[in-house]
Amino acid sequence: MQFHYHNPTHILFGQGQIANINRIITPEQKVLVLYGGGSIKRNGVYDQVVAALQGYQCLEFGGVEPNPTKETLDKAVALVKAENIDFILAVGGGSVIDGAKYIAAAACYDGDGWDIVTGQHKIFAAIPLGAILTLPATGSESNSGSVITKAETQDKLSFMSPYVQPVFAVMDPDTMKTLPEWQLKNGIVDAWVHICEQYLTWPQGTMVQDGYAESLLKNLLVLGNDFADHDTNEWRSNLMYTANQALNGLIGSGVAHDWATHAIGHELTALYGVNHARSLAIIQPSLLRNQVDFKRAKLAQMGRNVFGLEASDNLAEQTIDAIEAFYNSLGVASILTSEDRQGQAKDDAVTALMTQLEKHGLNAMGENQAITPEESRKILMAAL
Ligand code: NZQ
Ligand code: ZN
Repeated sequence: MQFHYHNPTHILFGQGQIANINRIITPEQKVLVLYGGGSIKRNGVYDQVVAALQGYQCLEFGGVEPNPTKETLDKAVALVKAENIDFILAVGGGSVIDGAKYIAAAACYDGDGWDIVTGQHKIFAAIPLGAILTLPATGSESNSGSVITKAETQDKLSFMSPYVQPVFAVMDPDTMKTLPEWQLKNGIVDAWVHICEQYLTWPQGTMVQDGYAESLLKNLLVLGNDFADHDTNEWRSNLMYTANQALNGLIGSGVAHDWATHAIGHELTALYGVNHARSLAIIQPSLLRNQVDFKRAKLAQMGRNVFGLEASDNLAEQTIDAIEAFYNSLGVASILTSEDRQGQAKDDAVTALMTQLEKHGLNAMGENQAITPEESRKILMAAL
């Protein structure tokens, strides 16, 4: 086992923590407050930000959409450059935080910000940013990843850089009170799949990473099964912290990763607007069944240690069924309906998705690079 692990994000966890952001952002810094469609203005989060930054020089930019687009974010990049912004405060879910990461990097680059997403331009500078999380799911608040969509070409791609890792992340579970139930359930599914992408590969003798991943998966199972308690601070706190730990680099240190479910899922979102968690619930069971021989030992380990299944010859297959049943028990459908496909025939949808995968060079995915176009097609045929 060999790895570097450095997570510099300062975590401020718990009720009332938004008030403490002025201990980290200094009064000399000119701040851009970035937010989405306005949920923060309706639930009191915006008012808490304004109160905490009283006396600061602040500008704001709203309207970052779910699955944030380069087209919208570029307007904020122009503002940051014109106004010499020193600090970007992202207030929202993964989309706003990912958007802030793009803006922070693109504002330090003279070319087209999309070059950063495609990797054509390597980042060596970014405006510092902080996050106030209002939707636990992505882990974006304390990781270095960002997923951006170019609406013009329906490309949804990710980039990673330590320069865009948030300086701090506020996680106040009270901000979750206004989330609709389906968003909370989607958060459970997204965090779950993040853990799977870093755990469901092959046994590598990594006791710490495996043990912690299994604990986080068990938390999500309990939170899903105890969904009736979602209106309590304890339930909210546990989901918020579990989703954070699922993708902050810790369980992924020193182990093989997969991420093929996410890569294919992003194409479903880009072409059909399927929300992120559902895209994962649609792809993952089919992908695991396709790759079961490579993943058999870890699936069996997960079946035993997370679901408490008895030893059997087809434990891996039973574990996949249990995962899919868990999503369905939350009401997150694991099939793409013809309505989702906007009436398009299944074969045509598969062809369109295959064209996207090819365009993005995704022709050898997964921990073994075993998901070739041929396997992707089989996965999509079974998933759709
Ligand atoms: O825009 P507003 O008005 O704020 O409403 C949002 C949005 O409509 C709403 N919302 C957020 N907090 C709320 C709230 N509504 C009521 N009360 C609150 N407290 O929720 C809607 C969805 O928000 P969004 O930020 O899009 O959701 P999520 O956090 O699931 O982020 C999804 C994006 O993150 C990317 C996804 O691909 C997708 O683009 N991901 C980022 C990752 C990363 N950076 O590490 C990893 C993930 O795998 C994922 O790919
Ligand atoms: Zn995800």
